[in-house]
Amino acid sequence: MVSIKRYVYTLTVMAGFYVLYYLNIDNRDVLNILNNVQILSSIWPETPVSIPLQDFIFKAEINQSISLTKGCTGCPIICPNSFKNKSGCRGDDCLCFKSNPVLNFHTWFNNTIISKEELLPFEMMTLKDKSVKDPLRLPNKERSYAKVMILTEGGYKVGEDILVKLEVYNGYGDSVKRGGDDVRVRMVEINKQLTIAGRVKDYNNGTYIITIPTLWNGTNNVIIYMPYFREERVTYLTWTRQFNALFYYKAKFRKGSEVQVTLCSSRPNLPEYDVICNMTYENGDDKWYCGAPPSRNLSCRDVISIGDYHFIDVAIANGQQYLRRRGNTFRLFKELKVEVKGEEDTRRHLLPICKRLSRSKTWDTSLPTGYASKGKYFPMYCQINKTDEDIKTCLINTTVIFTGDSTTRHWFIRLRKFIECKQTVGTSDFYRWTRDAECENQNINLKIQWRPHNLPITSVEKLSNEIRFRVKSIALLLDDIPTEGKYIFVIHLFAHFSRHHYYVIRERLRHIAVSLRHALDRNENLFVAVKGPHMYSTDWMPAVNDYTGPFVERVLMNELVEFRNRVAYLDFWDMSSAYGNVDIHPTEPMQWNMLRLLFGYACP
Ligand SMILES: *[C@@H]1O[C@H](CO)[C@@H](O)[C@H](O)[C@H]1NC(C)=O
Ligand SMILES: *[C@@H]1O[C@H](CO)[C@@H](O)[C@H](O)[C@H]1NC(C)=O
Ligand SMILES: *[C@@H]1O[C@H](CO)[C@@H](O)[C@H](O)[C@H]1NC(C)=O
Ligand SMILES: *[C@@H]1O[C@H](CO)[C@@H](O)[C@H](O)[C@H]1NC(C)=O
Ligand SMILES: *[C@@H]1O[C@H](CO)[C@@H](O)[C@H](O)[C@H]1NC(C)=O
Ligand SMILES: *[C@@H]1O[C@H](CO)[C@@H](O)[C@H](O)[C@H]1NC(C)=O
Ligand SMILES: *[C@@H]1O[C@H](CO)[C@@H](O)[C@H](O)[C@H]1NC(C)=O
Ligand SMILES: *[C@@H]1O[C@H](CO)[C@@H](O)[C@H](O)[C@H]1NC(C)=O
Ligand SMILES: *[C@@H]1O[C@H](CO)[C@@H](O)[C@H](O)[C@H]1NC(C)=O
Repeated sequence: MVSIKRYVYTLTVMAGFYVLYYLNIDNRDVLNILNNVQILSSIWPETPVSIPLQDFIFKAEINQSISLTKGCTGCPIICPNSFKNKSGCRGDDCLCFKSNPVLNFHTWFNNTIISKEELLPFEMMTLKDKSVKDPLRLPNKERSYAKVMILTEGGYKVGEDILVKLEVYNGYGDSVKRGGDDVRVRMVEINKQLTIAGRVKDYNNGTYIITIPTLWNGTNNVIIYMPYFREERVTYLTWTRQFNALFYYKAKFRKGSEVQVTLCSSRPNLPEYDVICNMTYENGDDKWYCGAPPSRNLSCRDVISIGDYHFIDVAIANGQQYLRRRGNTFRLFKELKVEVKGEEDTRRHLLPICKRLSRSKTWDTSLPTGYASKGKYFPMYCQINKTDEDIKTCLINTTVIFTGDSTTRHWFIRLRKFIECKQTVGTSDFYRWTRDAECENQNINLKIQWRPHNLPITSVEKLSNEIRFRVKSIALLLDDIPTEGKYIFVIHLFAHFSRHHYYVIRERLRHIAVSLRHALDRNENLFVAVKGPHMYSTDWMPAVNDYTGPFVERVLMNELVEFRNRVAYLDFWDMSSAYGNVDIHPTEPMQWNMLRLLFGYACP
């Protein structure tokens, strides 16, 4: 990438490639369409334009050859040599076209895909933020400080809230004078092995007030993390708005010996395809689009699989480059010690058992919703008094359905180890994990099923017995719940959506809500829980970490508000904060405690 000392403005670049979008259909294509292809009559039929373009102009310095995927181990090198055109292409080579956003770090999209009314407050607040140029203007660990605010003389006593003031300064020693950093807090009493999350109030001027309830006495370490500065969160949101997604998918089409691969995403704005396949039906009625295969011999219906392709390339400025290199985002920002005195409250056994806690209380995340003691998790508002035997009894005559991703696949594996259950579909371990898994214990009439959510999951494929490719979305799975029979159903959408704007999850939830309403009305023995996002941080790629967690939680809260009295919310954001979880797949002891909480709410 050469050194051109100027900025690329969204508008110029977009004007260049939007002309590629006209529909060029000859008679043969029309035949294809009539048979099976759904053609998009216009590229933007869906959301009205409501955001002024200037709100989104994002300048990328193209004199930098740095891109998001540079130096990413595990990101395969694609199209290493030259760009090819698509006539007569075969396999993955079909993706090697110049404006493929995965290869071209300044391919922009028309950003009218989102309506301004639907943006979360954080995004509204930060729409006009400039991109980061100078890393010294970012929050600086050494220059910032945190101090305990002692309100009563003689220090904190059990039952009072610890208050900590965090003041954020930049590398020049100036107050950052804005809020929006993702501040997370965890408190640990090392001797007794007690941990709890804190809550953070953002004053929007560089000051954050942290509140942590005290349930025990002793010496606590208050640990403050700042996994994502405001600038980092803004960068990710801007990218997902303007590049459509940080990650693209590819579809494979096959007929006879002809195989072609095209680009896919949750939006139809895919460059350089004259015809777009609407794969929404294939994706269980959740929006999905792929370029149509260029060969006349192949049609949209010849799709045999869709799966992960690659991160997009994006030119990034110095400040963003610095952020990208921060690595594991759970590095300490500040730590301080707080002494707590006084008698501990020993009346937890008076709390209601979790099954009797009102479902709406499970959605109240305004204060920490639990804590961990020697690795065991205790919810704040109820008690899980279930023994392992109780859980086993509860599973008699029950169908358990875990939907989601690898994290619920781990639940399936874990639960199978806990109770006798003969594998009937798929594998009992992580091998080929993206395929359905099921087990059964006929003696106690128990079925456990794991069902991946649809795209953007890692991969889906056409089943041999299918006439037309169709993946089950969570909504379709809910539609399958009969009127009779005891069901425990878990809804989970998170990590694979992190590479997309949160509007994708919102759309899914709106689809789910319709089916959920009917399923709950239909079957009174259906128990539904929503598994919330959890914290994690890997050094692999910044884009797949948990920065979306707070946004996803907000969207879940907003979209599922009507279900608060009927469905339980599993607040794993809080639990993973208490555990200081780092792994994308929570390990013991957190994993079993997640299941204990689920059965605590589900089982009498
Ligand atoms: C890119 O250009 C900017 C200003 O145009 C300059 O300050 C910067 O040093 C350049 N970066 C590189 C890597 O050449
Ligand atoms: C973006 O899409 C809208 C809706 O189709 C269209 O009116 C507008 O001209 C497009 N803007 C650009 C810069 O292509
Ligand atoms: C694409 O490639 C074919 C064969 O390699 C060539 O004949 C054709 O001119 C190329 N088209 C464009 C637009 O470059
Ligand atoms: C930020 O606002 C709070 C509340 O108004 C105030 O107490 C605090 O001093 C302010 N901090 C700074 C750095 O201005
Ligand atoms: C794609 O198909 C679905 C129905 O399967 C439809 O609701 C949606 O509007 C279509 N998308 C476009 C862009 O035409
Ligand atoms: C498409 O099919 C026709 C007829 O079966 C065949 O002659 C032709 O070679 C095929 N095209 C390609 C690119 O394979
Ligand atoms: C801490 O609480 C326990 C249990 O109530 C009590 O026995 C102990 O004396 C307390 N310790 C201190 C230092 O207050
Ligand atoms: C759990 O609580 C229920 C209701 O209070 C009670 O009937 C049951 O015996 C308790 N189980 C255990 C193991 O304490
Ligand atoms: C399970 O179902 C069978 C058959 O309907 C019934 O006889 C049995 O009592 C049920 N057991 C429990 C624990 O619900």
